[in-house]
Amino acid sequence: MTINPVLGNDSVLGNDSVLGSDPGLDQLGVAPSPLALLLLGRGSDPASERGVDCPGDLPAAADPSLATRAAAAKAALGDRVFILGHHYQRDDVIAFADVTGDSFKLAQQAAARPQADTIIFCGVHFMAESADILTGPHQRVVLPDLAAGCSMADMATAEQVEQAWDDLLDAGVATDTVPVSYMNSSAAIKAFTGRHDGTICTSSNARRALDWAFGERGGARVLFLPDQHLGRNTAIDELGMTDADCVVYDPRRPGGGLTHRQLREAKMILWRGHCSVHGRFTRASVDEVRARVPDVTVLVHPECQREVVTAADLVGSTEYIISVVDAAPAGSAFAVGTELNLVRRLALRHPDKTIVFLDRTVCFCSTMNRIDMPHLVWALEALVRGETVNQIAVDPDVATYARKALDQMLALP
Ligand code: 13P
Ligand code: SF4
Repeated sequence: MTINPVLGNDSVLGNDSVLGSDPGLDQLGVAPSPLALLLLGRGSDPASERGVDCPGDLPAAADPSLATRAAAAKAALGDRVFILGHHYQRDDVIAFADVTGDSFKLAQQAAARPQADTIIFCGVHFMAESADILTGPHQRVVLPDLAAGCSMADMATAEQVEQAWDDLLDAGVATDTVPVSYMNSSAAIKAFTGRHDGTICTSSNARRALDWAFGERGGARVLFLPDQHLGRNTAIDELGMTDADCVVYDPRRPGGGLTHRQLREAKMILWRGHCSVHGRFTRASVDEVRARVPDVTVLVHPECQREVVTAADLVGSTEYIISVVDAAPAGSAFAVGTELNLVRRLALRHPDKTIVFLDRTVCFCSTMNRIDMPHLVWALEALVRGETVNQIAVDPDVATYARKALDQMLALP
């Protein structure tokens, strides 16, 4: 195991005391904000995240031997363990990933590793659940910190979605409505989707998923869960729909806050959910960066609000964002609207290009940041001792139907 020479192994993002003076953040045009420390997350927070303290003794965050310990444990485990790392993970953690990717690529990779008996998922809870569903019964999936949830996924509970389906039944529209659920949802929501012959999608295949739902699957409308922005942006920009074709179902209001007529006439019933990270970007962020950076290309993720997407130059999934920046000639300038760990890494990888963060305040995904070196070392060293900690095991009945919806996504043309 070698530490990635490009990404290095500095742990600036994991060290509160130096966050404010990080030259990488200055370079991105990001002003340190008092909120940054809150967003990084400390301790467990049962009210807002999965909120589970890890049992056992975690190594100290300041232990200078964390990278050496992780490398030694990984070497001892050899091919028995495979580490998947989402692009939004911290630099020091991602240096230990065998494969990095967006949520679609990591789902494919999880399914393609039957020889590894343990998959360590450096990402968030819904990704680890999907990996458990897609891997074989002889494999285990470990999420180093169980508090690494996703606020968007938490915006659609199974009970709320069952209630929404009842509302569609009452309105007489359920039979020709197809559920299309973003990967960023719980296994229970994926199972709901499979039970109703829908599909999962990610930001890199949302258009193909909608084409399938309205085409081969024969749907008259789609119930899109749980990210309203990805659903709306894809429907309008990629399928040529209009705002009037979309309605927003609010799970906190009776009937979703919609009349039967609105449900019947809609092509897209968008769940009222959003990403708390990408949702922070505004039209004002785009205007400000255009005034500040000459000839800048504004490149954003489709989880951003509509006003941001319409003002941007390019829109696409995390893998798309990386490919655009990687392929651009030296001297190009980009303002990138996605998670800050990734934007910072892109800037470090391309010193010949100007790469700034789309917003002036620090904006990490606090739950992605939960996976840190102490938790990774703790999980790896436990495996070396023959113990499995923080295993993610989806209920078999839920997994059967969730797998049906995930397989449908993997089979999309
Ligand atoms: P992708 O990995 O599909 O780009 O999604 C972004 C995200 O928010 C993951 O949590
Ligand atoms: Fe969830 Fe947004 Fe964080 Fe992704 S970036 S894990 S969607 S909160």
